[in-house]
Amino acid sequence: MAGNWKMYKTPQETAIFFERFNSLADGWEKSDIVLFPPAIDIPAAVAAVNGTNIGIGGQNIYWSKEGAFTGEISADMFLAAGASWVLIGHSERRHVVTSETDADVLKKTQAALGAGLRPIICVGERLEEHKAGKTNEVLIKQFAAGVAGLTEEQFAQVVIAYEPVWAIGTGQTATPEIAAAAHRLIRQEADRRFGGEAAEQLRILYGGSVKPDNIVGLMKEDQLDGTLVGGASLDPDSFFKIVKAA
Ligand code: PGA
Repeated sequence: MAGNWKMYKTPQETAIFFERFNSLADGWEKSDIVLFPPAIDIPAAVAAVNGTNIGIGGQNIYWSKEGAFTGEISADMFLAAGASWVLIGHSERRHVVTSETDADVLKKTQAALGAGLRPIICVGERLEEHKAGKTNEVLIKQFAAGVAGLTEEQFAQVVIAYEPVWAIGTGQTATPEIAAAAHRLIRQEADRRFGGEAAEQLRILYGGSVKPDNIVGLMKEDQLDGTLVGGASLDPDSFFKIVKAA
């Protein structure tokens, strides 16, 4: 159960969030919980979750270890700051703030794994692709170019998040059936490339306008192993209601 804060919260607001969230999640063992704050908040978040099971991750990395790449942060730097996860290829990085490609996604995933960070790779179709019935085609292409190049050992460390772009921040959640169909397709692609056991073990999260009042219906689908939540992860009570649906 993962929360992506995007570009919200200062270090002070991060500390306030965890004061409340830690008391709610105290002793929770039924799922992994990971939060992805802005990079500047990582030290505050890592300090706040010390002694809990809650994981902290970065929202993006650059694939080099270090160098003249103004504004970028490497996997090793996130790891040194106490992060253990990273989001890769979020649709806002693919389509809004920059134009990340599937080839970039693969390079970033390899860099994350090389440094010891666990990646959540985001995939999903845009509204016009959804309307044109091209969802499967898009997912197959994103898997082939962004994921299939991993080794079997690397793939075993990866989590995939299916996030239809038309559902992100729009209030228009995919129905459980639509989400399950996309997850089934991703698992099929994983099976073709990495084999049945790897496909079965793969954790696939759904993301896109997940809220406390729609998460239970989504999580009833066997295909959904968890969720990646944006807006509703900013409030500790709302995010914990979602976590409990695991
Ligand atoms: P949302 O964002 O829950 O606000 O739709 C999901 C995401 O972008 O990961």
